[in-house]
Amino acid sequence: MSLILGLETSCDETAAAIVEDGRWVLSNVVSSQNDLHEKYRGVVPEIASRAHLERMLPVIDEAMAQAGVSFPSPSREAGGETDARQITAIAVGNRPGLIGSLLVGVSAAKALAWSLGVPIIGVDHIQAHLYAAALVEERSAKSEERGNTPTENRSPLLALHSPILYPALGLVISGGHTSFFAVASPTRMRVIGQTIDDAVGEAYDKAAVILDAGYPGGPKLDALARTGNAQAEQLPRSLLTPESLDFSFSGLKTSLLYKVRGHPVGRGKKTTFQRTAADLTPRRRADLAAAFQQAAIETLVVKIERALGALAAGAEPARSIVIGGGVSANSLLRESIKGLVSRRGIPVLIPAMPFCLDNAAMIAGLAHHHLAEGRADDLALPAMASSSV
Ligand code: KG4
Ligand code: ZN
Repeated sequence: MSLILGLETSCDETAAAIVEDGRWVLSNVVSSQNDLHEKYRGVVPEIASRAHLERMLPVIDEAMAQAGVSFPSPSREAGGETDARQITAIAVGNRPGLIGSLLVGVSAAKALAWSLGVPIIGVDHIQAHLYAAALVEERSAKSEERGNTPTENRSPLLALHSPILYPALGLVISGGHTSFFAVASPTRMRVIGQTIDDAVGEAYDKAAVILDAGYPGGPKLDALARTGNAQAEQLPRSLLTPESLDFSFSGLKTSLLYKVRGHPVGRGKKTTFQRTAADLTPRRRADLAAAFQQAAIETLVVKIERALGALAAGAEPARSIVIGGGVSANSLLRESIKGLVSRRGIPVLIPAMPFCLDNAAMIAGLAHHHLAEGRADDLALPAMASSSV
């Protein structure tokens, strides 16, 4: 049995979670810093790392209390009996992310692992997003027998809480990444396509600024889009060359900018626009948000079908599609996936809502598989700005 405490501080969420055997989430505590960054309409790295410092220990305490587990006593005799409800390892998201933010989680993890005498495992945040769909909230699993594979009732193929079938097609859609992966197992994958400019979450965040939709941009734009009519406005979809598995979202963002503000006059710092979002009627703002959302999500779905074809043509057909990252919380994406499931007859694994955005449960869950493969780190574990996949 593994009972892993995971820590996550790669961006602006301070998070700690306890996960049993890589699957059952006993607690999942996330302290969001939205209030601190709202007035800047984006994450300020220095503010983020200071806030992580203040919040890390209270968040760990809360995760431990909610799960009802304890730390092993450092004075226990080597080889002695370990209480079943004691933490067996510490996992930490150590890459990629804001380096000052990552360092807070990594330092806390090292201090805990060293003082408790338990293994430390560094986890890649992007790989962890691709594992989040396998997690089950202990509370939601209570009514179902553990050991079974509970599936969501709404569709037999759109699976919440199902084990991921490998090999899988993976799609990470977050604030920093929009990437396809050929996924061989929870710990082994390779990139087969990625954005050549903005990540889709980043495009959402910028579109929200353009439309003055509020902060954090992604969920606010999603909510505004639900009140609009996507057919009332035309925005472009960038599919690149017919076979490309790469993405591009900057053209969509710029088209939206010009629709909202009119064509720019002048160049460089002297550029001026004719209007702002405040000059649009509420209906037009909502319609533009809906058209943006339609274009962005349709592009993702078209490309998923393309990537499935590419894997099959390369003699590595996917047995499931696994999606992760903040944009997997998007309402239109979750709806559109159902159409994909019925067209292709392949299971799509999408995380339960608490595991879409940054969280530590996905870190602790994936660490179980690293440990099972005999991979642990030591106190030299570095924080790294880039992903290793
Ligand atoms: O995975 P995540 O929490 O952090 C990163 O690893 O980047 O993803 C955050 C991104 C942000 O860009 C946010 O705007 C976007 O996910 N996001 C959404 C929604 N919820 C979060 N984008 C579209 N619709 C949403 N409902
Ligand atoms: Zn993330």
